[in-house]
Amino acid sequence: MGIPVNEEGDAHQGMHATQRQQMIERHQDSLDYFGYAPQALYWGTHEEQLARFSMLAGIGVRNGDSLLDVGCGFGDLYRWLSSRDLAVDYTGLDISPEILAKGRELNPALGLVQGELFDFDWAPQSFDWVFLSGTLNWDVGEGSAYARRVIRRMFTLCRFGVAFNLLDIRTLDMAGIGEIVAYQPHKVLAFCESLSPGCSLYSDYIEDDFTIYIRREQP
Ligand SMILES: C[S@@+](CC[C@H](N)C(=O)[O-])C[C@H]1O[C@@H](n2cnc3c(N)ncnc32)[C@H](O)[C@@H]1O
Repeated sequence: MGIPVNEEGDAHQGMHATQRQQMIERHQDSLDYFGYAPQALYWGTHEEQLARFSMLAGIGVRNGDSLLDVGCGFGDLYRWLSSRDLAVDYTGLDISPEILAKGRELNPALGLVQGELFDFDWAPQSFDWVFLSGTLNWDVGEGSAYARRVIRRMFTLCRFGVAFNLLDIRTLDMAGIGEIVAYQPHKVLAFCESLSPGCSLYSDYIEDDFTIYIRREQP
């Protein structure tokens, strides 16, 4: 813990300080407005939030595995896994102190930490699985560069694999949703395949969304 945010926004791997502040404020506003609800996380419906969880878990999470959830929101992934009888050793991290405070209130026993991925100096392969749902849907002003840094770091931290979702630029109607960012699935897949040959792409579970699994090759 404790790598400072770089005011210049380039040497540090994290997002620019201005973007970080905006991210925190938009989630504070949404939480004030909606309270504990998927809409506070900018999800359309609870069903879509859970469909994304189901897709992530499909990579092969088992009882007792450790899991890092990047941009964990309220820790709803943990609650969903528990409801499926999957007891994982869960760590959630989120940039929004307000969202996280609500998450701690709902799940007092969970390991929830505040910040972005680059604020923490976990050793390589510290977690069996590293998941991300919805966290890279905001435009932080760097094209796809920030997402690539996050995915690369997620892969470094996993022992077995990474699962994440992004918005699909092929189908998402971007009109009127200026600060959202969507991606070309096959371009993201090609980047992931530069990290590991064990990648799969899925885009048939809900509209405008795709999921990628990156499995670490076992020695
Ligand atoms: C769309 S919400 C999804 C939350 C959770 N994954 C879920 O599906 O319930 C995205 C979350 O990521 C957090 N977030 C956004 N950018 C982040 C970043 N770079 N690092 C960590 N958290 C981030 C937001 O505060 C928000 O809680």
